[in-house]
Amino acid sequence: MTSPQTDAALDIVIFGGAGDLSFRKLLPALYMAHAHDKLSADTRILAVGRQAWDTEAYLKFIDEKSPDFIETSSFDRVTWQAFLKRLVYVSVDVTSAPAYAALKSVCNTPRLRVFYLATAPSLFSQICAHLHSVGLVDAQARVVLEKPLGTDLASARAINQDVAQYFNEQQIYRIDHYLGKETVQNLMVLRFGNAIFEPLWRAPYIKSVQITVAETVGVGSRAGFYDGAGAMRDMVQNHLLQLLCIVAMEQPISLDADDVRDEKLKVLRSLRRMSLADIKRDTVRGQYTAGASDGQAVKGYLEEDNVPPDSRTETFVALRLQINNARWAQVPFFLRTGKRLQNRQSEIIIEFADQPFSVFGKRDMSEPNRLIITLQPEESIELAMMVKEPGTGLRMHPVHLGLDLQQSSEKRRAEAYERLLMDVIKGRLTHFMRRDELEAAWNWVDPILTGWAELDDKPRPYSAGSWGPAASSALMARDELSWFEES
Ligand code: BG6
Repeated sequence: MTSPQTDAALDIVIFGGAGDLSFRKLLPALYMAHAHDKLSADTRILAVGRQAWDTEAYLKFIDEKSPDFIETSSFDRVTWQAFLKRLVYVSVDVTSAPAYAALKSVCNTPRLRVFYLATAPSLFSQICAHLHSVGLVDAQARVVLEKPLGTDLASARAINQDVAQYFNEQQIYRIDHYLGKETVQNLMVLRFGNAIFEPLWRAPYIKSVQITVAETVGVGSRAGFYDGAGAMRDMVQNHLLQLLCIVAMEQPISLDADDVRDEKLKVLRSLRRMSLADIKRDTVRGQYTAGASDGQAVKGYLEEDNVPPDSRTETFVALRLQINNARWAQVPFFLRTGKRLQNRQSEIIIEFADQPFSVFGKRDMSEPNRLIITLQPEESIELAMMVKEPGTGLRMHPVHLGLDLQQSSEKRRAEAYERLLMDVIKGRLTHFMRRDELEAAWNWVDPILTGWAELDDKPRPYSAGSWGPAASSALMARDELSWFEES
């Protein structure tokens, strides 16, 4: 196993150094780590890109792009200039073996090296092979693989197999930035650090679970990637299934990476595989049409730049699924995600079962108890309960017992990418996906993707700014349930 080496001389080598992810997320995250003294003095950030730039030209580009993605209150020009001194640009055509000599000449002293592959996954194998052939992969080196890791089980396996020729599993960090979000990490503490939840966290005390990751943004400039992926591959296969795992898993025997990942793997392996009939009944695909978002008129998906006019790619998915184990027998789980929805809202709703008997008779206006875990935009945990309405009669009304996580501590809340990058530097694998976990997720998703193709399933249109196609509400209504915003 690689040992944590926080203070070792460190090079963070970012492939795709001039790409969207770098200037929007990775460099802002590293800036925050720098500003809070979390990077050792001699940490360097080597940005690798195909543009024939020198470091000066790259810094100019980053200086124009990245500050917009750093919270204004955290941005300080002097600190930013000091941060930029850590950056070195190396121009490399990553598909050409001889080009790696340039990188090798910059990485000419023994250092802990983190290779962050923020490129198309089709390049992962050759980048690893070329790094190895110029002698840059030693026993300490780490590689971070950005999603999407493949487009189906076979391609994910092929990438994993190729990367495994050069890095052992303890050196591979498959990133899912949802696992770096504060509230997602908090979920484990909520479940396993509070005695009151565990006895109730199962069938029959829980009636249903819904997990929503709703976005207001459209596909933007990413159609080149997105149109070949769709919401299922882009969001469900990774982010939503990881959230599901944390909600549904058993308590791990320790917080060691493999113990946590073993439990998540069991959940993925317990997902009931969907037959064609299940797919027809329990899945909904949608695609947004023109509408309004945040008060502005916006285009439909088919009118977006670089989207083929006859595209059938889904920008919305809702699913009803079941977990085949004793804890969750008969409890329906609903997953939903989409672009151009009404609000940016990520939440997990645990709906508790109805009271077996009510002493209130006709006066019983009770609504189910619900635990509402909001991941974004704000981070909060609320428990919906019934109380007596003030007055002489006995009427009930629902109230929310609320915990605003932002207000609950003065401590700074780091962004997901900063937290995960620090984990990589420290050699902590808990919040990264293991190979078998990733493949188990694809193994469940694959039949749904092929089923949609076989059924010739056309995405249902929904107006931008709505909550998705009507069929999504109907999916819940069949179980006499409704999405949280409809209840
Ligand atoms: C990414 C997807 O992984 O997550 C994007 O590729 C999506 O399509 C993004 O917009 C959502 O992340 P967040 O942190 O903004 O919820």
